[in-house]
Formats: sequence, C-alpha cells, structure tokens
Amino acid sequence: SLRVSQFRRSTMALAERHDDLVIRADYTHDQPLERYTAEDHAVWRDLFRRQAALLPGRACDAFLDGLKGLGVAADGVPDFERLSDVLEKATGWRIVCVPGLVPDAIFFGHLATRRFPVTWWIRKRSQLDYLQEPDCFHDIYGHVPLLMNPVFADYMQAYGKGGLKAAGLNALHHLARLYWYTVEFGLIEQKNGDLRIYGSGILSSKTESVFCLDSNAPNRIRFDLIRVMRTRYRIDTFQKSYFVIRSFDELFDATRPDFTPLYAQLRDQPDFGAADIALQDSVITRGTLDAKQGGWEA
Ligand code: PHE
Ligand code: FE
Repeated sequence: SLRVSQFRRSTMALAERHDDLVIRADYTHDQPLERYTAEDHAVWRDLFRRQAALLPGRACDAFLDGLKGLGVAADGVPDFERLSDVLEKATGWRIVCVPGLVPDAIFFGHLATRRFPVTWWIRKRSQLDYLQEPDCFHDIYGHVPLLMNPVFADYMQAYGKGGLKAAGLNALHHLARLYWYTVEFGLIEQKNGDLRIYGSGILSSKTESVFCLDSNAPNRIRFDLIRVMRTRYRIDTFQKSYFVIRSFDELFDATRPDFTPLYAQLRDQPDFGAADIALQDSVITRGTLDAKQGGWEA
C-alpha cells in the first residue's frame, strides 16, 4: 500500500508488535516464521481461497500467470525467502521483510534496487475484509505476482528511482497518486475490450474485486499521466474513479520521460477530486457515484 503520510499513524502499532525483532537500518529484518500461529495460517488460507474463487476472469492474465509461476500456495503464510528465490530467477526482484510501513526514502530505495518490502504480519480474522495498513496478504498476494512480469518489474524499479527524485523536488504527493491509481487500484483493458484488475489493493480485497468491475457507482476513465497526478484519492472507501490502461507497456512508456518539467507544470494546476470527471477525460463508464460517502481525500 501507499507509504506516503501513513507512516506516522502506524508507528505506534509498529512499536508494540516489534519490540524484540532485530531491525536493520534499511528497516528489513528476518521473517520471524516461528511467530505465525495456526490461526495466522488459517487466516491466510481463507483469504487466499476467497480470492482464488473470484479472480479468474477478473484479474489480468499477468497476475494469474505470476501467481501460478511463484507457486504461492493456499496452505499458509509463505516463506519469503523461498518466494524470493523463484522471483529472482524470473525478474531479478527479491522480497525483503519489514515491520510495516516504512519511511518514503527507505521504500523507494528498496524498489530502486529491485527489493519489494513486505510486511511480515498478517491481519486478524476480524479484519478479513478491511485493513488500514498493508499486511503480508496484501503485500505478497496483491503485489508480488506482478513482479514476475518483466515489464511491470521494470516499471516498479523505475518508480522507486522516480520516488527518490520526486522527494528532492517536493513532488511526492503527485507521484504517490500515480502509485495509487496504477499499482494499487489500476484496471487494464484486454484486447477484447474486457476490463481486468491489476491493482494490488483490489486484488487483495474480496469486496473491491467485485465492485471495481461490476458496480455502476465508480467512474472508469482512460489513464492519462498528468490527469492521474492531479487527482486526489480516497483511502477509506471503494475508489470513486478507476483509471484504465491498455498494457503495461503503455504505462511504462508514459512514465519514461523525466518528470521534472511535469512537476513544475503541476504546481500551477488545481487538483481534481476523487470523483470528478474532467472535460478532456476519455470516459469508459461514468459512475452514478452512489456508493457510501464520508472520509477524506489525500
Ligand atoms: N520518469 C519518472 C521521472 O523522471 C520516473 C518514474 C518512472 C516515475 C516510472 C514513475 C514511474 O521522475
Ligand atoms: Fe500496496
């Protein structure tokens, strides 16, 4: 999930859970495999099975292929080192274990060196459907399968490098929106015109996996880089707008240019609200926007 501005809120919970883990300067630590209880493994199993029943026909093929290729099983919280060995052979990425959300610079630094930070702990059964901060089910199941895809793998590394640069240009909030509307909540149009999910925040959520494709509440708008970087987002409800790419190549090509002049341009442009439709949008479906309201926008 997104690190920006969520970090401070989560440090308290973090201190309580991680009193006796040995955490390195880059926030990584060994995965404490012995700490997972039978109930933790059962929660993983239930989350996994629910998504396995839903995602064929909803998730993009790259995700389904990646999941199969990784050999992530339903039986329990996986050993991150074992997954890393498979992943590294495919695209050179490894998983690193972290206590939870990490500071932006640390997060980007890991991505820039093809290491994906994964939270070690798993949610409680009472949080099966909704969680404020990412756990290992979201991080592994939602994010890691796509890192098996060579184009997406390169996009994520480029994003990490871009993050380090944006931090120096005071533009992190714009780049964070790009992450949110692509990596976390992106939709992709198949060649036959069907929409599929590639965003990890959707892929790890039973209810949003259905909502994002089947509901007539949200807007579905063709991806445009500047438009996305101008758009606030909601962290407390289903998304009001999903942005749709045609391919990972399209996404990677659109984000390849140096963003420095774009950030300068963005400084003078007003934001869009999460539910707004802009004049120049290429709208795929205009939402009724009648899903539950409330909360705040980032
Ligand atoms: N091209 C962007 C820049 O110069 C970096 C980037 C790549 C950002 C991919 C996001 C995704 O800042
Ligand atoms: Fe995430």
